Amino acid sequence: MKHILDAPFLVELARTAAHMYAHGWDERNSGNISVLLDGAEAEQYVDPDAVLRDIPTGFEAPALDGKYFLVTGAGKYFKNVGDDPALNLGLVRLAEGGRTARLLWGLTDGGSPTSEFPAHMMSHGARLAQDPDSRVVMHCHPSNLLAMTYVHDLDSRAFTRTLWRMCTEGILVFPDGVNVLPWMLCGTNEIGAATAERMADARLVVWAQHGIYGAGRSLDETFGLIETAEKAAEIYLKIAHLPRLNTITDGQLRQLEQRYGVRARPGWLD
Ligand code: 13P
Ligand code: ZN
Repeated sequence: MKHILDAPFLVELARTAAHMYAHGWDERNSGNISVLLDGAEAEQYVDPDAVLRDIPTGFEAPALDGKYFLVTGAGKYFKNVGDDPALNLGLVRLAEGGRTARLLWGLTDGGSPTSEFPAHMMSHGARLAQDPDSRVVMHCHPSNLLAMTYVHDLDSRAFTRTLWRMCTEGILVFPDGVNVLPWMLCGTNEIGAATAERMADARLVVWAQHGIYGAGRSLDETFGLIETAEKAAEIYLKIAHLPRLNTITDGQLRQLEQRYGVRARPGWLD
């Protein structure tokens, strides 16, 4: 058995959590990450029969039964993940149709996977149905996106169109746009199901007055999605109160589509 602290997936998650903290996206315990692991790779580091604890999830996710996830713990601080991965992270395998998370490593203080485990697992299910290579779900509280949800129309198309106009690269990074969920109680199966529903046609879902979810094939890709949307929101907040003399037009967004071979969400350009 290899030593899990050397596992590339663990090292990369710890590194990513540190970057997210450094960006100011994850104050205190805010934010959570889950990574779907390759089963054969996970079994190089943990024995699936050596179960430390069975943790009830409170939901069903039959499509994810038997799958391994590395996940941040409930109430854990992103700034501390690298210093003590075994305390702050858990490696679990879903069992009993998703109703149980079998803890195979980590959460050494008796902790549980993130309180947003329903939103994470349901979002993995939704993204895998669209893209079998999807692996990562990431949640955090970036200031500018969060602030934007107080002053901008929460219609997903309008919100996306504003973000696309704020920096030329936006439409290239998230051509599928951003879906916006009005404020809901966090940590529940209900917000999990609503998030997953919105993950069916976009890899970014904004939680109004709370934060954002991103999904992708790798930690870097998912981080980059959130980073780019957050940058666009930052520009918006810098200019929203000023007279607008120039903008990026729909015609220019179409030029970007053509030049770089991306396809904007159908119907979201005029
Ligand atoms: P956890 O500490 O349970 O992951 O919760 C943080 C959070 O961001 C809730 O939305
Ligand atoms: Zn949150």
